Amino acid sequence: MDILRTVKEVQDVVSSMRLEDKTIGFVPTMGALHEGHFSLVRKCVADNDICIVSIFVNPTQFNNKEDLVKYPRNLGRDAQYLEKEGVNIIFAPSEDEIYPEPDTRQFDFGQIDKVMEGIHRPGHFNGVAQVVSRLFDIVKPDRAYFGEKDFQQLAIIRTMVKQLGLPVQIVPMPIVREESGLALSSRNERLTSEQKNIAVAISKTLSESRKWIAGCTVAEVVKNVTDTLNAYDELEVEYYEIVDGYTLQSISDWVDSDYIVGCIAVFCGEVRLIDNIVYKAKS
Ligand code: PAF
Repeated sequence: MDILRTVKEVQDVVSSMRLEDKTIGFVPTMGALHEGHFSLVRKCVADNDICIVSIFVNPTQFNNKEDLVKYPRNLGRDAQYLEKEGVNIIFAPSEDEIYPEPDTRQFDFGQIDKVMEGIHRPGHFNGVAQVVSRLFDIVKPDRAYFGEKDFQQLAIIRTMVKQLGLPVQIVPMPIVREESGLALSSRNERLTSEQKNIAVAISKTLSESRKWIAGCTVAEVVKNVTDTLNAYDELEVEYYEIVDGYTLQSISDWVDSDYIVGCIAVFCGEVRLIDNIVYKAKS
């Protein structure tokens, strides 16, 4: 496994792999890797001749600068894990490599970034689109792997790929959870063990709420989930929205869509956690 730092090094390797007709799979990450990332990496290694993982904490997607400073970084540890998983190349660039000039591009994703994370983290998805489009341009992958925990991010990336006409297949992967049900996230590292026990209520309540949909309206389920979680001192729901899984717009009736997902953001102390649950699967 090689750890490459420059755009040129990656482009040279990618060009020579292309000459050999090798398929290239790509997993973009910000490091602090956990089992959620490893599930993407395993699928990438299995599906492609070459697996490239990027590790880059992208400043343009942090609307909260304190979050950027506190973001866990440990390249040595991440690299050890990735080598064991059979990754061929880690791309760990500096900020100057990715943004030699400030990226001033503004994406227009219509309504899908005007809701949920888009409201609460202004500019976040524009930053994600900037970095992912730049990384796709450098790596030129056949396939790229993203987790469904970041449900809205996945929709944004699919839209961006369509808008830019990029020849990459986006492969979604299911949420990986701890045995307790807590969705894996790099941010979990910032929870105390007591907070971690409390945060389990998020997935537990979402999972319970599946039973409520037969007898409750959409608004009632939203209220029950929100009230149940807000009853914990340490938890504060930022939003809970039940949306059409394609458009990400809130629905008001269970018959409004054949693909329904509940998306939540909750503060556990100072740590912001997201999760989601599928009420009606894509047919
Ligand atoms: O999901 C993430 O870790 C990041 O948003 C991504 C896709 C690596 C872009 O920085």
